[in-house]
Amino acid sequence: MSKLSVDGSLRALRRITADGFVRARLLNGRLFLASIFVFVAMSSSAADAPARAAIASAHPLATEAGYRILQHGGNAFDAAVTVAAVLAVVEPYSAGLGGGGFWLLHRASDRKQIMVDARETAPAAITLSMYVDNAGVPVPGATLRGGKAAGIPGVPAGMAHLAQRYGKLTMRQLLAPAIKLARDGFNIDSRFANVVKLREAMLRGGINTARIFLDHDKAPPQGHLLRQPELAATLERLAEQGHDGFYRGAVAESLVSGVNAAGGVWQASDLAEYKVVERPPVRFSYRGATIVSAALPSSGGVTLAQTLNILESYNVADARDPANAHLVVEALRRAFQDRLRYLGDSDFVKVPVEKLVDKSYALSRAASIDPNLATTLDPLAITPLAAVVESYNTTHYSVIDADGNRVGATLSINSWFGAGLIAGDTGVLLNNEIDDFSLGADLPNLYRLLGSKANAIAPRKRPLSSMSPTFVEDRKGVLVIGAPGGSRIISMVLFGIIDYLNQDRVDLLSIVTAPRYHHQCWPDVVEIEPGSFSDAWRASLESKGHQVRANNRKWGNMQIVFKSNSDGSAQAASDPRGFDLGGY
Ligand code: GLY
Repeated sequence: MSKLSVDGSLRALRRITADGFVRARLLNGRLFLASIFVFVAMSSSAADAPARAAIASAHPLATEAGYRILQHGGNAFDAAVTVAAVLAVVEPYSAGLGGGGFWLLHRASDRKQIMVDARETAPAAITLSMYVDNAGVPVPGATLRGGKAAGIPGVPAGMAHLAQRYGKLTMRQLLAPAIKLARDGFNIDSRFANVVKLREAMLRGGINTARIFLDHDKAPPQGHLLRQPELAATLERLAEQGHDGFYRGAVAESLVSGVNAAGGVWQASDLAEYKVVERPPVRFSYRGATIVSAALPSSGGVTLAQTLNILESYNVADARDPANAHLVVEALRRAFQDRLRYLGDSDFVKVPVEKLVDKSYALSRAASIDPNLATTLDPLAITPLAAVVESYNTTHYSVIDADGNRVGATLSINSWFGAGLIAGDTGVLLNNEIDDFSLGADLPNLYRLLGSKANAIAPRKRPLSSMSPTFVEDRKGVLVIGAPGGSRIISMVLFGIIDYLNQDRVDLLSIVTAPRYHHQCWPDVVEIEPGSFSDAWRASLESKGHQVRANNRKWGNMQIVFKSNSDGSAQAASDPRGFDLGGY
């Protein structure tokens, strides 16, 4: 690690320059604090060497803690543990110890690339009948709220695995910043206050959520000091005892009894037997670059590979050009159709991954695209659920250190505040990731995603995810990219890849700020961000038979870092939508 460059970042961090704020204001018309660290990472004043390490996360406190770990001799994997732990405290409504996720790793010393799968597992006693009645009608809310909704968390196991297998510092050192923030408290930012306000009724009716997140039963204002002493104690056990501090003993007992008192069917063995799995990532080439992305049980890598393989037949430099947008939508339509038909946890079902990501298969899929007309794909028979309030949540962060170690991590408790359940005295907010399973071919989930038997509920199975931490390696360098946002993660990362590869001179901010659209086969609608596409753009797609619908909010909170091949310099960028709540 180059001491000079990381020190340089920290010197800049201490200054937190007015310049950073001014540039953020100019670019976005508002302060967006997460991006202070864009300018930290890019700091290259006369006194400072260009940064060689970069971190982008959804919260400045998490980014800052990660930089300090690098300064104190940690590597990217150490920093990744610290960032995850701090996010669990300061952004608990998105991800945390009660959730799961995927860490995509690149170790510079031997170029090992691996995905640490810390996705939640279904408890051993799960049955479909807990969620669907005899007539095949979903039990309202069963996959979304309370004990039935929660899968066995994987994030604590993932953190312990990363530290033990790849890091240099101790769990005690890595978790210290999170423990301090949980115990002493931190002032909630406007985003936190807004999310709590939006979910005030849910938190009031949740289990142990009001006493932690509300103030005298009301949503607290920005600046409120939030202390989470119970979460601090659980983090301390994890710091002292590692994996077993969470999955065995007092914390595990409290989790099991808390979840089961709320309708769940957890057993001590579900926690004791939880294991992360190291999986080879999905790797493919696109226009001369190598793309490395999440493997099953995330659909991210396979769906990205299929979409980009189809697009490789065309020259799609600008994905927002209306003629190209038609092709992108058609490629997404085909890839998402295969997602719903074939994808699930490959430890439980046979998934034809090699065939799906094969270039010749993509050619055959591309052959059915009419350049002038939207395709009608025969959708499965659909029984739409009642309209849902969209709450696409999750968190992503990206880390690259001076040695070139990299981490892309996407972690989640699913929707805002997950299952609305904090188990016992653990301070751990549990996920509602069971909703990512398919309850039946005609029953879409929260993200309006359909699935097949491949993603059906089964004991100890992992639900299919869209989380897509991704590396893009080309002659310029390496980009680490990812975002929260349910099924839209895949289209967001897709645009990030296309935009990056279209740049001769890397401009990260343009990648995270560029307008977004999305299509996922069903519903057969091209969703667009409001105010981002012209009437002529819409008309062009509509003339080809697409239904175009502006969403009520923008979406995403992309966090990216880049390291240059030519001089080893690193930079980071955070999505300004992170402070706008977005539609996720
Ligand atoms: N819970 C959202 C996802 O995993 O895609």
